[in-house]
Amino acid sequence: MPIASTSQLLGYSPRVTIVGVGKVGSTLAQQIGEKNLADVVLLDEVEGLPQGLALDLMEAKGISLHSREFIGTTNYADTAGSDIVVITAGQPRKPGMNRDELLKTNARIVVETAKNAIAYSPNAILIVVTNPLDVMTYLAWQATQLPTRRVIGMAGVLDSARFQAFVAMELGVSIADVRAIVLGSHGDLMVPLPRYSTVNGIPITELIDAATIDRLVERTRKGGAEIVELMQTGSAYFAPAASTYLMVEAILLNQSRLVPVAAYLQGEYGLHDIFIGVPTLLGASGVEQILELKLTNAEISALHLAAQEVKQNIEQARSLLAS
Ligand code: 2OP
Repeated sequence: MPIASTSQLLGYSPRVTIVGVGKVGSTLAQQIGEKNLADVVLLDEVEGLPQGLALDLMEAKGISLHSREFIGTTNYADTAGSDIVVITAGQPRKPGMNRDELLKTNARIVVETAKNAIAYSPNAILIVVTNPLDVMTYLAWQATQLPTRRVIGMAGVLDSARFQAFVAMELGVSIADVRAIVLGSHGDLMVPLPRYSTVNGIPITELIDAATIDRLVERTRKGGAEIVELMQTGSAYFAPAASTYLMVEAILLNQSRLVPVAAYLQGEYGLHDIFIGVPTLLGASGVEQILELKLTNAEISALHLAAQEVKQNIEQARSLLAS
């Protein structure tokens, strides 16, 4: 493991701010450091928590042997000059809390944190992870007025990774040979695309019967809930953090990765003024391109149904924010 990367030897270290240092945020920080990708600012409203985590991560550096810095803070001024801001801040649903209350609470948090962070890092690319994902990404974009290509929601990478894992487990093949793609919203109405999911180029529709594919699709749609059900006291974080890491890396290393993310649509797939999961090229400027796949009528209807729900939730979040 090199102690300094090329960019560091040239005197430049990219900086990623993570707002909200729960399990997803702190696991992401660890990955960014261990892969020697960027310096990380951990920001949270709970005094001491980000500072403690940053110190813990600094103390692990001697073993993982990388040379990135971790800064823990409750002050947005310390995040200044970030290349990427990742928002994971928000509440999980608590017992007795209804959907509206959760929507309102997280909408307030995301709008406020996005505005504060972008005020100090006006050139940053914003990655939103907080749920309900597609709605929060829209609100963060509205609050910051950033160019749309610089506001991105993380969900398609995660949902596709889950579909990929279930296909690999079902067929007993190496996950390295499985590619999967999931569009739409991050929720029950997401749209896994079996026709475009392959094992080393062979569509899974040639390898798995329709009933089994339906079962894997359903498991993917409920992937987050399955883990919540098992854990009881929390939700998934390894795969969400790994998915966010992939996006951060694609941007900082200008990789032009073809991945589904929640991106702003202006007519693509017949949808307007919405953030929803579609295939994109991710690189240094954010969403460099949105790819329009040929979809069947059933697939396009499923995408539009998901979009309808996202739009309703955006309207609801806006009226809750105004109340
Ligand atoms: C997940 O899908 C909670 O969005 C998170 O695991």
